[in-house]
Amino acid sequence: MVILPVASGKGGVGKSLFAANIGLALGETGKKIILADLDLGASNLHMFLGLRSIETGIGTFLNSKELKFEDIIIKTGFDNVFFIPGDAEMPGIANLTSPQKRTIIKNLLSLDADYLIMDLGAGTGNNVLDFFLISGRGVIITTPTLTAILNAYLFLKNAIFRIMTSGFAGKSPAFQLIEKLKKEGTPLQKVYIPKLLEKIKVIDLDSYNQFMERMKSFHPCVILNMLTDKKDTEKAGQLQRSVMRYLNLDLEHLGIIFKDSIQDIALNSRIPIMKYKPGSIISQAIYRIADKLLSFDAEAKGPLDLQSLEQSYQIAELEAEVDCQSRIYYLEELLHCGGDLSKGELIEIIKSQQFEIDKLKKESNLLKAKLLKAIDQGFVS
Ligand SMILES: Nc1ncnc2c1ncn2[C@@H]1O[C@H](COP(=O)(O)OP(=O)(O)O)[C@@H](O)[C@H]1O
Ligand SMILES: [Mg+2]
Repeated sequence: MVILPVASGKGGVGKSLFAANIGLALGETGKKIILADLDLGASNLHMFLGLRSIETGIGTFLNSKELKFEDIIIKTGFDNVFFIPGDAEMPGIANLTSPQKRTIIKNLLSLDADYLIMDLGAGTGNNVLDFFLISGRGVIITTPTLTAILNAYLFLKNAIFRIMTSGFAGKSPAFQLIEKLKKEGTPLQKVYIPKLLEKIKVIDLDSYNQFMERMKSFHPCVILNMLTDKKDTEKAGQLQRSVMRYLNLDLEHLGIIFKDSIQDIALNSRIPIMKYKPGSIISQAIYRIADKLLSFDAEAKGPLDLQSLEQSYQIAELEAEVDCQSRIYYLEELLHCGGDLSKGELIEIIKSQQFEIDKLKKESNLLKAKLLKAIDQGFVS
């Protein structure tokens, strides 16, 4: 079974649209496809398949003793395509515990299909990364905006840290080096990976070799979605270059999809775009990507397996948040990589930073108000 996780650093970039429709395109070739909605907490993949909200999904399975995993797999009405719903009934399971995550992964790995396509949540939490890394062929979706590209890059950087730390033994010098960095308050996003690896190679050759071995089964791909201008095509190349230079990773370019307003009509009509208008720009782009995927050799395994997930030592707060600060580090990297920023891109960055500062201000005011109230009521002195 080929596992295709679909991820992104930023939300709203077209993961669910792509997951659903690539499933249909591959299903049309006679392959058996299972689509799994793993955007737990915000499941909406069913909408892109034209299905109504479904009561029983992964959320119900986790909370039930009687339900078997096979029981939650449903038919989609499209030939060869099956669906595992997310959590329509129980929102709030976005924060899976490690045993819950392993249960889901174990069940997913034992499914019987040609392709398992997983629609993941946005962001770089450990759960999303682990689902992504059970496959060697994860797909990252991004739009051409600078913020989305930054988030895609940071997603990959975090994925590499996850591969690193899930493989190092708890007492190994490599593990302790990373713990030390964390204790000293060095944000992982600021760490220059090639340099860190050089250091690890010197102090702990075993861990280094083990990491390099795992990286051999890591071949992520990128798709640029919602293009409005042909010029934007080069954004993929820009991302590929920084990923190569700073993460030492060969990011495969899987294809581009232009923005097409017909998608809104398809969504409202509850008909997947591949079926609503197979000749549309979006459908044609997805057929091309399906052809490319069919030509790939099946990856035997991903950089993380169940066993390593069971043994892995968690470094406290490993996941470096994709925040204002980490974007600034990336901007520095991007500028060093010869990628001149346009005026428009700079404005976009300032706008998105301003948005986050405003959000933080609001949160801070809310906390202040709560604290004052608590003091008033005598809970805090
Ligand atoms: N190429 C495209 N052209 C037009 N609309 C698109 C395109 N890709 C995605 N969309 C729309 O953008 C919105 C966000 O897409 P979605 O797949 O839900 O993103 P995600 O799953 O990453 O949050 C949806 O309304 C979807 O229909
Ligand atoms: Mg989605």
